[in-house]
Amino acid sequence: MTTRPLLAALVAAGVAASGGASAQGSLNVYCSAQVEWCQAVANAFQRETGVRVAMTQKGSGEVLAQIRAEAQNPRGDIWFGGTGDPHLQAAEDNLSAEYRSPNMEQLHPWAQKQAADSRYRTVGIYAGALGFGFNTELLARRNITAPACWADLLKPEFRNEIQMANPNSSGTAYVMIATMVQLMGEEEAFTYLKALHRNINAYPRSGTGPIKAVARGETAVSISFVHDAVTERVAGFPVGNATPCEGTGYEIGSMSIIRGSRNERNARRFYDWALTPDAQKLGADTKQFQIPSNRNAPIPEGAPRFENIKLIEYDFARYGQSAERRRLIERWDREVNSLPR
Ligand code: G6P
Repeated sequence: MTTRPLLAALVAAGVAASGGASAQGSLNVYCSAQVEWCQAVANAFQRETGVRVAMTQKGSGEVLAQIRAEAQNPRGDIWFGGTGDPHLQAAEDNLSAEYRSPNMEQLHPWAQKQAADSRYRTVGIYAGALGFGFNTELLARRNITAPACWADLLKPEFRNEIQMANPNSSGTAYVMIATMVQLMGEEEAFTYLKALHRNINAYPRSGTGPIKAVARGETAVSISFVHDAVTERVAGFPVGNATPCEGTGYEIGSMSIIRGSRNERNARRFYDWALTPDAQKLGADTKQFQIPSNRNAPIPEGAPRFENIKLIEYDFARYGQSAERRRLIERWDREVNSLPR
């Protein structure tokens, strides 16, 4: 008996989803932030506007590949979140559409610069710094001191104890590689990445894969955005985080309208909405701890603050270049990922 109302609800939902009944039309969102945030954004926009929203969550590198594959027949309308470099690459490769939101001037200068760098084909929606996450209980049990510097990750006690994501799919991992190149110069950076490879036990697909493995106690250390470590800690896991003593890079999480979108009017409406303080607050509401790009959006309590972190001057324009990003990832595949461990 209890299945009947459920069935009715499912049928109703199916009809609503396939019938195109909404007068406000629809919107296909590709989302590269954490899925809880993606879902909240999709739900809130749908509730507030009546636009029927379909959302797919994928890593930044994966969405870029998908948008490229679909370029002749775009299925997505807007790409929300994910690291800025692949959004810049999409802009350069003519995969995203130019748009200047009237809300642009409410944004921090770093978010507006991301827009200007791309000739207004993308815009910053949040920022977050790269660092380490670690399982405090595992480290204590093994009597290992938490890493404080990039150099620490090469120590023999971290053999098989570290995860970072795969840069082909994950924007987070690409930020790490680009950071090392900017800190050390390219040759030294690749020497470092090869040495680090010996201590890596897996390169998961998603940028948050490593910190989730830390939270579950499957690996002691991850290379992660430190805001993602905070998310795991507030969920109750024994997770600590640090930012490297030598300095570190950061992301400008971005948003782009997909060129050739079939719902461009709704994509622009979503874009304007996503830049408002109320929409940006959905990050904090879903336990995400990035710095929002709207100057009037509250910074989530517990968010790692940039003024306390030694940041490099990450050259977004250079490392978001299509050829440069492709070249560095190919070099990593060839010279690092192919090595035995
Ligand atoms: C997480 C972080 C975001 C980041 C994203 C990148 O969701 O919270 O700040 O932009 O990862 O994901 P990716 O899988 O591309 O590394």
